Amino acid sequence: MKIIEVESYEKLSLLAADMIASQVLLKPDCVLGLATGSSPLGTYENLASRCGEGRLDFSRVRTVNLDEYCGLTAENPQSYRYFMDQNLFGRVNIDPANTHLPDGSASDMEAECARYESLVESLGWPDLQLLGIGHNGHIGFNEPAEDFPARVHTVQLAESTIKANSRLFDRVEDVPTMAVTMGIGTIMKARRVLLIAGADKREIVERAFHGPVTPQVPGSILQLHPDATVIFTRS
Ligand code: F6R
Repeated sequence: MKIIEVESYEKLSLLAADMIASQVLLKPDCVLGLATGSSPLGTYENLASRCGEGRLDFSRVRTVNLDEYCGLTAENPQSYRYFMDQNLFGRVNIDPANTHLPDGSASDMEAECARYESLVESLGWPDLQLLGIGHNGHIGFNEPAEDFPARVHTVQLAESTIKANSRLFDRVEDVPTMAVTMGIGTIMKARRVLLIAGADKREIVERAFHGPVTPQVPGSILQLHPDATVIFTRS
């Protein structure tokens, strides 16, 4: 695992965008695994600028997102589909039909989990998976647990995750308590993994990548990925 410390969030975003852009340039029809949240906002901004300047072409790129809240439709401004449309998909020349997220509003969530796992598999698994990390070590919405979940599954969000994510909702009661997420096994199948962590994640970066590999800190599994890079900043 490669751990790179950079001096600022701007540098982190630039470097992450460089890695994603080089993946797209080397394989124009690559599969990108993507994340939502605050961490990738600067990276997406960078990618959108490069595309706007004609330096990057997303026309053949396929994407699969890590996760989605249960119970929110794509039109809901709090949904991860909405976030992706606003922050990346609507700002680059990607074919919307090539962008995929789990459907959090599916009536049969078990069937939806199986469908999404098969979809990611049918695309050949991500060439590059972008990740953030929660303060409790979650990646995707794989919360601390007894085991590492293998496949796409639904999950009860941890109290700390609901609290952290409530900053984006009017009231904490509005934050969905369930989500659908790629499993740790799904994430580990990506050929390359890139995790980005801002200054607020100093403690968990230390625990996850310099401590023991344990499902109590789900991100720690990345220590065992053959091609994982962590970019973090302390300021
Ligand atoms: C989002 C996701 C989450 C976030 C994590 C960090 O799709 O899977 O694991 O990456 O909660 O979120 P931020 O970046 O908002 O601190």
